[in-house]
Amino acid sequence: MTDVKAKTADYGLGPYTFPRGWFVIAEASQLSEGPMALNYFDKEFALYRGESGRVVLLDAYCKHMGTHLTKSVSAHVVATNQNIVGDSILCPYHAWQYGPDGQLESIPYEPGLCPKSANIKSYPVREIMGLILMWHDPEGGEPDFDPPFLPAWEKENAVHWQLDHLGSIPIHQLEILDNMTDVRHLGPTHGSPCEYFENEYRDHVVIQRQGGTLATYNAHLDTVTWYTGPGILLSKQTYNDITIFELIVNTPIKDGYTQAWHGVLSFANNIPPSTKDLVAAKQAQEAALAAFSTDFEVWKHKIPAIKVLQTKRDGQFKTQRKWVSQFYMSANDAKKIQEEVNGVHHIEDFPQPTSAARDAGFEDDCFATA
Ligand code: FES
Ligand SMILES: [Fe+2]
Repeated sequence: MTDVKAKTADYGLGPYTFPRGWFVIAEASQLSEGPMALNYFDKEFALYRGESGRVVLLDAYCKHMGTHLTKSVSAHVVATNQNIVGDSILCPYHAWQYGPDGQLESIPYEPGLCPKSANIKSYPVREIMGLILMWHDPEGGEPDFDPPFLPAWEKENAVHWQLDHLGSIPIHQLEILDNMTDVRHLGPTHGSPCEYFENEYRDHVVIQRQGGTLATYNAHLDTVTWYTGPGILLSKQTYNDITIFELIVNTPIKDGYTQAWHGVLSFANNIPPSTKDLVAAKQAQEAALAAFSTDFEVWKHKIPAIKVLQTKRDGQFKTQRKWVSQFYMSANDAKKIQEEVNGVHHIEDFPQPTSAARDAGFEDDCFATA
């Protein structure tokens, strides 16, 4: 692993170190183990599920004396499961009670006293497709777009993903997002040389449509892949009459470091899925992970590409990076970037998708929300 790191400012992305958008912060099933302590965007957070089922994300530290709300698990009030009250949480040290909106609700030994200065920040959270998502906005604004959702998730024969937790890599999220336009790596890295390609930018969504022959499967593979904001990739992949959806999500931990998860949504032949169907689903996720891991390995060992030495027939990294930059500035300034890059972009001298490939599941999937 190289120790040459690059940060947001090195890439000249925008005034903010961390981007605006929806980001995965945990797998929903992890919350059945109790409250979690999380670290993203160079900040500490407390995540828990209230008694109503509501998921709550707060700044981690109590305003009384700075105790981490979810890290001190041996404290009596936590060890005896008394720290979640309704949708509120008690601090492990002196049991000051915080509501899901971050407001101090009570001090057990000071009836009627709730100083506003003790309030902490609460963040917008969504639970979708087994994922816990947070809205991160460096300006503290409310969400200005919805997270993605796959309607196919609700099909009767859907076999839902259990995420691969891939840990953190010392690479800036920008270089992971470069993949969206990187037409020339598909053959050398993934063994699936591209036969047609295009990108489309629509405000906070970037779409890639491409296809080619996948050597390892001896099959033609068509993919429609889209990012909704800079953190959540979904990809509809069709080969040999099989359709799967791949999920790749990345969340900044600190400047220049990114955490990643991976999953595959596939479909069983039987309802309920047979053991054979479940094995096939697991294999589909493993195969997709093996393909993605080739990128991951490159990212782990490369030095930063602060500027890409972009050739004429390369992917359009400059446009792609401009699209990414919108998330590192105010939502207002982002509009100008969107106006600049919105539209369909092609690679010089490279075949474009047929209209059938262009339409395949496009509006249905790329812009669906829960
Ligand atoms: S430090 Fe949190 S209640 Fe005292
Ligand atoms: Fe790739």
